[in-house]
Amino acid sequence: MEVTMSDAHGRETTLDLLQYIAASPTAAHAIETTRGRLDAAGFVELLEADRWKLSAGDRFYVIRGHHALVAGVIGDAPPAEAGFRLAGAHTDAPGLRLKPNAHYAEKGYLQMGVEIYGGPLLGTWTDRDLTLAGKLFLRQPGAPPRVRLVRLERPVCRIPQVAIHFNREVNTKGLILDKQKHLPPIYGLGDEDALEAEPLLQFVAQEAQVAREEIVAADLEVIDTQPPVLGGLREELYFAPHIDNLAGSHAILESLRHSTDGLPFTRAIALFDSEEIGSQTSAGAGSFFLDAVLERITSATDASREAWHRARARSVLISVDGAHAIHPNYADVHDPHHQPHLNAGPVIKVNAQQRYATTPRSGHWFEHCADRAGVPLQYYVQRTDLPCGSTIGPMTATRLGVPTIDVGNPMLSMHSIRETGGAEDQAMMIKILTEHFTAEERR
Ligand code: CO
Repeated sequence: MEVTMSDAHGRETTLDLLQYIAASPTAAHAIETTRGRLDAAGFVELLEADRWKLSAGDRFYVIRGHHALVAGVIGDAPPAEAGFRLAGAHTDAPGLRLKPNAHYAEKGYLQMGVEIYGGPLLGTWTDRDLTLAGKLFLRQPGAPPRVRLVRLERPVCRIPQVAIHFNREVNTKGLILDKQKHLPPIYGLGDEDALEAEPLLQFVAQEAQVAREEIVAADLEVIDTQPPVLGGLREELYFAPHIDNLAGSHAILESLRHSTDGLPFTRAIALFDSEEIGSQTSAGAGSFFLDAVLERITSATDASREAWHRARARSVLISVDGAHAIHPNYADVHDPHHQPHLNAGPVIKVNAQQRYATTPRSGHWFEHCADRAGVPLQYYVQRTDLPCGSTIGPMTATRLGVPTIDVGNPMLSMHSIRETGGAEDQAMMIKILTEHFTAEERR
């Protein structure tokens, strides 16, 4: 019996994706993981507040406050002549965030109040070994606080479901969670007196190797402790948190990293926070971040407003985000003629209301790149009687006015604490995006 995967390269790429996901429990961690990979590939950081000097072949990246990152390789020709080849993805994922006055004791338990971020499948957060990760803001004399990322390794908290003896209809009516009452995780036993010593914050400080007094503020979220893994009998699947959309972030990053020199057009990727809450933040896809960076790059060779508009008119953007694979137990939630399968190639996402930015014209560019790469494609459209999700695609298309294609790899259980993907799809997506970043002619 054949027990190895036919596509050895696909497996390696997916193992690399699993490392990227494991290192990125929050959107801020994803930015730092990405920074590490860019540094290793010779990209140099630019600060937004500095004056930039850029020339052909330069590899750069810009980060806005642990929330957004634009990285690129400057082309040999001015952007007004050769345009931009762009790709975008989001780094954030639905989940639970600690409230400012999070800590309280109730009936002898220590608990933390949490808010919901985005649209998680809430039931999947229950009865799992959870912990915390996020940002600590540390005091600096005479300067704004500096950020230290932190992640607790031990499972310090849990959201226990009530026993079936108190919820007899749970298996017929479904798990109904009161968002205020039923979500606060427990993190130990104790009373109000125990809280005075701030046991959790003391532990966080110790894990981050800082003194408690140094911490001015903390921005922490609840995360799963189970590492991503390959799964399935032949390891043709993978199980991981945040496949939506660290798979997209990893795909555009690795395609850019493999981009060669000596090309006329400038290549750039954008990673955004805040997609799951609508992108309208200072570093979300609705912000001025990406267009500001691209305009400044254009200015390096021609500072006229005319040059910037000419550059945009020659550009194209691929927005990469998760796509819904057909689910064998829920096959009727899909349109019968649009049922993407795992390991059958990337998906072009289409929506007449433009919740996905793909148009027949922009889609043709992705098809052309897939053809060059020798990779199969699939198509997705939501059932006509169900509302459609969205991505950063329509937002960036509106802001930049460039043809945009929404694509993604098929996956199951989108917005679960643990999602499922196909282990051969990541390599296929990277092959197509690499063509997007290297193919000389535009179609
Ligand atoms: Co997404």
